[in-house]
Amino acid sequence: MTDTDSNGRPGDVSNAADDRDPLFARIPRRDFMKAGAATGALTGLAGCTSLLSSEENATAAADVDASVPPGEHDEYYGFLSGGHSGEIRVYGIPSMRQLMRIPVFNRESARGYGFDDETRGMLEDAGGYTWGDTHHPRVSQTDNDYDGRWAFVNDKANGRMARIDLKYFETDAIVDVPNQQGTHGACCMLPDTKYVFGVGEFRVPMPNDGRDLDDPDSYTSNIAAIDPETMNVEWEVLVDGNMDNGDGGKNGRWFFATGYNSESAVTESGMSESDTDWVKAFDVPAIEEAVEAGEYEEIGGVPVVDGTRDSSLNEGDRPLVRYLDVSKSPHGVSVTPDGKYAIASGKLDPTCSVIDIEALGEVDDPNEAVVGRPSLGMGPLHTAYDGRGHAYTTLFIDSQVVKWDIEAAVEADAESEDPVVEKIDVHYNPGHLIAAESYTAEPAGDWLISLNKLSKDRFLPVGPVHPENDQLIYIGDDDAGMELVKDTPAYAEPHDASIVHKSKLEPASTYDPADPELDPVGVDDVDIQREDGRVDVKMTSQRNQFGFEDITVQEGDEVTITVTNIETTADLLHSMAIPEHDVNIKLAPQETRKVTFAADEPGVYWMYCAFFCSALHLEMRSRLLVEPAE
Ligand code: CUA
Repeated sequence: MTDTDSNGRPGDVSNAADDRDPLFARIPRRDFMKAGAATGALTGLAGCTSLLSSEENATAAADVDASVPPGEHDEYYGFLSGGHSGEIRVYGIPSMRQLMRIPVFNRESARGYGFDDETRGMLEDAGGYTWGDTHHPRVSQTDNDYDGRWAFVNDKANGRMARIDLKYFETDAIVDVPNQQGTHGACCMLPDTKYVFGVGEFRVPMPNDGRDLDDPDSYTSNIAAIDPETMNVEWEVLVDGNMDNGDGGKNGRWFFATGYNSESAVTESGMSESDTDWVKAFDVPAIEEAVEAGEYEEIGGVPVVDGTRDSSLNEGDRPLVRYLDVSKSPHGVSVTPDGKYAIASGKLDPTCSVIDIEALGEVDDPNEAVVGRPSLGMGPLHTAYDGRGHAYTTLFIDSQVVKWDIEAAVEADAESEDPVVEKIDVHYNPGHLIAAESYTAEPAGDWLISLNKLSKDRFLPVGPVHPENDQLIYIGDDDAGMELVKDTPAYAEPHDASIVHKSKLEPASTYDPADPELDPVGVDDVDIQREDGRVDVKMTSQRNQFGFEDITVQEGDEVTITVTNIETTADLLHSMAIPEHDVNIKLAPQETRKVTFAADEPGVYWMYCAFFCSALHLEMRSRLLVEPAE
């Protein structure tokens, strides 16, 4: 195959995937889905020519100005997951400038996250793992619109969910979801974020305590409903098969999750044997009633209801979970802005399934609620919306974004390509994509980001590990068509994102001294207390001193230092770093942090400020004197 050039760019690079996967190279692409080797082919990561080449579609797009001149602000915040880094990254859109990184499951020294007692304790209480794998940042909503309170993100690696306070842009809660290994999907129950759902991916014995080790038939996965205020897991629902991504309906009734492995297998070939898998539709009020009626088993401290296909709770008039048969291994699912449809992408099949949400509550056979199945291209993964009736779906294998008409797909015959409006090449192999405010009832309809897994030749080479490529596409002009505006290299691995208009957020510019949780140290509170091998220091920081010029402790003391940055000037950060003690706390204006450490080695240690705060920044330091034990 000579396919990579289909991306229409000079400087063709050989497709590494084709080089290493001779199986894929042998399969004529039109027969790709019939080859019975679809999973092998999917891992082939090819950038094939599209059915409808983008050259044919290229119209004279209007010149789009995505520049944001120096000193000016962006229109939107983009919250992108940081994958293996365990963080969230905040971008300005459309500039694609990275504005901030929010550590979540990782320790991060510039923000002192995981170093002070509170954040270190939060990470330890949530399992104490040193990494996480963030995938799906979702922002809380009220009445189907962003309310600016929180962002949530999952840890696929360790089965956790975190909450980020969007006043301070910092993680304020993490829950280690019981009974769940591999929390993949994360999303909100709308219209008012009643729950945050963690979608469990890896099937394991329940509970996973050593029983049923090699009895895969008894493994299960579940969804967890988490209260956004308390971050308590309120209930879980057991299901058959794996789960993957999810999205909540807009009216408080349904929640959808895609899943592969209806086969309940434990090997790749086993997981892709069947031609169909399920989209699961969870009837949330019915589940709440079952919990209320005590129809659950408590496992790991959580009420767990049985939503497997053959369970008694899942039979009768009001099954808890409806299993819809869709083509093999569906991947993304997202609900249209008007709340009418849930659209599940085929991944190993070129179609998407359009599910009529209202019909779902009325039909006997849930498969009758599938009202459209447009054929979009190779490897459809995720779908976003512009609010003008179009859906945009990433085509992982074709390396394209396809724009299509949702109602046309409902009216067209199954597997028709007629609903396709336009395709645009992206570089390369996109996973998620996100349009501005796509998860709300009223998407903005102007910007879309394609989160591409590979960048290949798009940037200066930096060794064998390539950056990924987040591409900005203008979708605001239906006549001119989609226009690729910007490449943005990204460190692995942004999976998903949410884009929120700046008017919906009100970030604080300093900490709030009236916040009862902060308990600040005032200038009059500076103090040292000693008792039985414990030293308790309270001090301030401001240009260019800490509250004490020196602090003397005994070898072996446990030392707690609480510091308040008493600056009121925005952006005037200090920190307190202590060499050879693994201490570094960041102090934004009016912020208070507490850190506890052992003074185990006699000697002189300079406590210094690690943020450049003024011309006398280097001089801003105090001594920690650790006296040898008698
Ligand atoms: Cu304070 Cu540098």
